[in-house]
Amino acid sequence: MAEKFAKLKVEKDFKISEIDKRIYGSFIEHLGRAVYGGIYQPGHSSADEEGFRKDVIDLVKELQIPIVRYPGGNFVSNFYWEDSVGPVEERPRRLELAWRSTEPNLVGINEFNSWCKKVGAEPMQALNLGTRGIEAACNLLEYCNMPAGTKYADLRVKHGYKDPMGIKVWNLGNEMDGPWQTGHKTADEYGHLADETAKAMKLIDPSIELVLCGSSNTGMPTFPLWEDTSLTWAYDSVDYISLHQYYGNRFNDTANFFAQSDDMEYFINTVKATCDYVKAKKRSKKTMMLSFDEWNVWFHANEEDDDTMKNRPWQVAPHLLEDHYDFEDAILVGLMLITLMKHSDRVKIACMAQLVNVIAPIMTEEEGPAWRQTIYYPLLHASKYGRGVALQPVLTSSKHDTLDFTDVTDVVSIAVWNEEKEELTVFAVNRSVESDLVMDIDIKSFEGYSYLEHIVLEHDDMKAVNTVTSEAVTPKTVNDRTVLDGDGYKSKLAKSSWNVIRFRKN
Ligand code: AHR
Repeated sequence: MAEKFAKLKVEKDFKISEIDKRIYGSFIEHLGRAVYGGIYQPGHSSADEEGFRKDVIDLVKELQIPIVRYPGGNFVSNFYWEDSVGPVEERPRRLELAWRSTEPNLVGINEFNSWCKKVGAEPMQALNLGTRGIEAACNLLEYCNMPAGTKYADLRVKHGYKDPMGIKVWNLGNEMDGPWQTGHKTADEYGHLADETAKAMKLIDPSIELVLCGSSNTGMPTFPLWEDTSLTWAYDSVDYISLHQYYGNRFNDTANFFAQSDDMEYFINTVKATCDYVKAKKRSKKTMMLSFDEWNVWFHANEEDDDTMKNRPWQVAPHLLEDHYDFEDAILVGLMLITLMKHSDRVKIACMAQLVNVIAPIMTEEEGPAWRQTIYYPLLHASKYGRGVALQPVLTSSKHDTLDFTDVTDVVSIAVWNEEKEELTVFAVNRSVESDLVMDIDIKSFEGYSYLEHIVLEHDDMKAVNTVTSEAVTPKTVNDRTVLDGDGYKSKLAKSSWNVIRFRKN
């Protein structure tokens, strides 16, 4: 086997972009135990006066999540926002079509907004463009963002919320290209509706930012024609187009699984190209930004979920999408985070889907504590140390092929410079499942900076998981693996590992 190697040159002046902190966002959907039994559980020993679990709040704060998309997801395409506000005892229970559950409406727009304040995140509000349209969208915007004096703003005040919420980012529907979506539409139908909705909403509140639905994944037969058609309708009235993508190791082929971040790379590049093509067609001066507002690993619980929805429907907060993540899932999550940072010039928002109990980094026990899944850690590191300017990774690496991908680099890496804190962080994954390797790191342009620490997430067992009582997969600091060698550094990257190598100005 040829020797594995990697060389990374980090140059101060090779800037991709200032990273928008919102790429470390997340997502709470009214699905399974995300809301009920997740963020909200009035009877729990850690519940606060509003019924929100403080143990969950603490973990969300530790992750420093800046933005949380809500209330769906597929849920939103049959969501009647009016049912979720006002006196709780008067709110109806509704049939929830996306997940075949019963929605009790104990938590709604106002409660979620209050929870966001507690965790220090801004809400990202999704609109129902499945069963509803312009009118409901405008009424909800008025309810949320307008000062008292008109019908829906006054209704908010009557409900006890005097101040407008000032919700800035709004999703124009969810996955409208998907036949599974309630109220699924063709690209022309959707593009037209989204454009008209966007124009009306911006008349009400011109300060808002709007996200158009892009494709639900790269495998959609309509990708990327969907982007072309919908943007041709709505290019001038929206600010972002969305991307959603989930991966899974369905055939237990870890090398092929790790290579899937190359598909994410392809997805982003293709959407960028399509946006720029529409920009050219329209002779527009505006550059469309990207909102990767659903991404993660999702496959472990698929069969169980199908069975629950088919055979035991209409439960309140059933166990759904409770994927139990293993070590290799954390590595792919790390790879996806690096991919987002590499595209920070165009990807300005990204939401790991989701946050609590449902395909989530945080899990809760009904009568016990909240705990961290394996995928929690790369998100934590990225959100903590991945703030600042993303630098162009001038990287050479040995490569390998997998079942579905060729020329897969062994190493994927990015460096982020936090000028204010005078810190430089190199994130690197060794995707080789067979060999450790040494990566040369040249940071000569960072005068006065020296090595601070090397954090690693590694494990011998790809299938190792965390549970409420045991943390088999946790990061550790390994200070003997990064050494100064001449005027550069050498870092040992263990096979299948996530590495965070930090430098600071003396
Ligand atoms: O996050 C789970 C689901 O995945 C969302 O509801 C939907 O938008 C996507 O298909």
